[in-house]
Amino acid sequence: MRKYVMDRRQFLRYLAYGGIFTVSQPLLSACRPLLSEQTATEFHGDPDVEIRLTAKPDVQQIFTGSPTEIWRYQGEVLKGPSDTLISLPGSYLGPTISVKPGTQLRVYFANELPEQSIVHWHGLHVPDHADGHPRLAVGSGETYVYNYRVMDRAGTYWYHPHPHGRTGPQVYLGLAGLFLIHDDEEASLDLPAGEKDLPIVIQDRIFDRTNQLDYNRSGMMSQMLGMLGDEILVNGLPDAKITVDRGAYRLRLMNGSNARIYKLAWDDGTPLHVIGTDGGLLERPLVRDYVTLAPAQRLDVWVDFGAWEPGTNLQMVNLPSAAPGGGSEFPIFTASIQDTVRQAASLPERLTRHEVLDSAQAVNANAPRVFTLEMGRGMRWTINGRQFDMKDVARDERVQLGDIEVWEFFNQGSAGMGMGMGMMSQPHPMHVHGLQFKVVERRIDAGEERAYQSLKDGFVDEGWHDTILVMPGERVRILMHFKDFSGLYLYHCHILEHEDMGMMRNYQVITP
Ligand code: C2O
Ligand code: CU
Ligand code: CU
Repeated sequence: MRKYVMDRRQFLRYLAYGGIFTVSQPLLSACRPLLSEQTATEFHGDPDVEIRLTAKPDVQQIFTGSPTEIWRYQGEVLKGPSDTLISLPGSYLGPTISVKPGTQLRVYFANELPEQSIVHWHGLHVPDHADGHPRLAVGSGETYVYNYRVMDRAGTYWYHPHPHGRTGPQVYLGLAGLFLIHDDEEASLDLPAGEKDLPIVIQDRIFDRTNQLDYNRSGMMSQMLGMLGDEILVNGLPDAKITVDRGAYRLRLMNGSNARIYKLAWDDGTPLHVIGTDGGLLERPLVRDYVTLAPAQRLDVWVDFGAWEPGTNLQMVNLPSAAPGGGSEFPIFTASIQDTVRQAASLPERLTRHEVLDSAQAVNANAPRVFTLEMGRGMRWTINGRQFDMKDVARDERVQLGDIEVWEFFNQGSAGMGMGMGMMSQPHPMHVHGLQFKVVERRIDAGEERAYQSLKDGFVDEGWHDTILVMPGERVRILMHFKDFSGLYLYHCHILEHEDMGMMRNYQVITP
């Protein structure tokens, strides 16, 4: 039997939909959450930049014919430079946020969706109350206030929803945006900037015959592999074509897909110059014939389009690999090179200095914490045999504030499974909240090399990362420094269907 008891959330939703006339004023204020309940101010004084991000249902013309029903973040600058927010033209994606390190940022997140949500700042080092943990989700009609100081290096970060069990569908419907940090060191390098600094957010989707997004994760395939689409969108546009001058560009490649792993290359075989990763610029540029980009990962690539003849239509393609759905080659976007004067282009040999973080400094350098990734009973993805629980933190998920540690993610792959269980052997892009880490080493189990081999030459393990691909049968060790903030954070697989199904856990940073 159904009980008609309204909890606070339903009550607020009720208010948001006009029920306000039936309640008296004192009751209303008693039920509205106080600002201080939801946020603790991490900086003193006034914020430098204040923005409002409203998540709401909307429509977007993506194809000819019917517009597509989407969900979007709409932004508004309340205080600070007006170019703090820049919209991508014709896109369902949220505005690109640009700030400098040291900025005291306040964000009002207004949830006008028909369900609960919360915003996570992917890659940023922020206090736990600003990290967007699902326990902080607010209901329809509610607002969450973030206050934090931007502490990260110049780089390409992003934001997306993180409500319990609903991250996949919410991102799929369009909720995501870029978060760029620019600093003086980066400016001194004279890298391509302004119109020559291009975001390339890659997403795959399935649309039905009426151009509507079709999110169906109940199927066995999407539970195993995650949601794979057959339409590639770049910055929210299908068949993306970018018109470029004959000069140097910075392409901020970002995999905003729910599940697809890309193997990206220029169609004529020209190598890629990688200058940055999840956590900002590399010490020096690297060259790769192709790059592997797992969900949530970013890679900054420098390219001199002056090296091609005017009129060339250069394609970035996805090369075939053993990644799920990666069987054939398909285009990502076309760069159409204009007939302009060739501009001088030079890539600095040294980009930035990195803070030294050596695995010898780790408190557990010889005995890393091991997190085993496997398919558990009831066809559920697990981490050390566990699934997500809103509050649970196991003993091996507690770390001390100030410590440097090595963690090992071990993807069980097909070990211990019978024949024909190949679907249970999946790559997992593992993400740790609240920090950037270094990759220490990778090891692949004998007999599991095939999928690994098809992607490994595109790995960029140098630099700082917040998400790392762990192939079936692979052990990847990462090095982390748990500094500045104690509290509750998350680590999880960034295949959003795996995450929503419970392949996520809390970790807690404890003050010694
Ligand atoms: Cu980008 Cu917990 O996520
Ligand atoms: Cu994150
Ligand atoms: Cu996974």
